[in-house]
Amino acid sequence: MDGNGRWAKQKGKHRVFGHKHGVKSLRKAITFASEKEFKALTIFAFSSENWKRPKQEVNMLMELFFTVLGSEVKKLHQHNIKLTVIGDMTSFSDRIQKKVSEAQKLTENNTGLALNVAANYGGRWDIAQATKHIAAQVAKGELSIDDIDEDRIAQGMTLYDLPEIDLMIRTGGEQRISNFLLWQLAYTELYFTDILWPDFDAISFQNALDFFSGKERRFGQTSEQVILQAVSDE
Ligand code: IPE
Ligand code: MG
Repeated sequence: MDGNGRWAKQKGKHRVFGHKHGVKSLRKAITFASEKEFKALTIFAFSSENWKRPKQEVNMLMELFFTVLGSEVKKLHQHNIKLTVIGDMTSFSDRIQKKVSEAQKLTENNTGLALNVAANYGGRWDIAQATKHIAAQVAKGELSIDDIDEDRIAQGMTLYDLPEIDLMIRTGGEQRISNFLLWQLAYTELYFTDILWPDFDAISFQNALDFFSGKERRFGQTSEQVILQAVSDE
């Protein structure tokens, strides 16, 4: 969700104004994903690098995160949405951690959209967590080194319980992953748009889906194999 600050600047306003409008876009995106019956939507709300921003902006983003969690969680629950926060929660204040666990608890059995909010998240952190988990199992003698494979690593990572990610959308014009879901994006289609996040609406989202629909997903196979597979699946 990139571009809040620039959007505000273009309007001669403070960055905070952009973040607040960014929340409106987020609401629209969640509604869109839920109505389209997406299995999952993962949003990058706050990266492990975002702490480096001016203290005032970090505080404001935390406050916004807290307020939005409080005000929206009932609505998410009513829509059968399951909320999960991924990232290192230990750096957040106690009251945020408490709000997050309450929100997760309330929605944990919901069967609709899996809404994952990446907060203090980093793709490298995710891989490091999985590595620690495996090392601990090996140290305890529960796992042998020969049994470490890709799936075993993935098991220790966030989003393991969800299908492979189909599409990643980055707004705001940069064409980078910026330490988002590094492992999980291995086969994901990447969509970059110059639209700034506060301007991203249902039409923009649909354009991204149309881009995705136009892609042939081969996962390393040839085009012919993919077509044959599709025919035999029918
Ligand atoms: C939103 O956009 C990112 C966060 C929610 C932290 P930015 O704040 O990065 O906006 P730009 O890139 O300065 O325009
Ligand atoms: Mg930015």
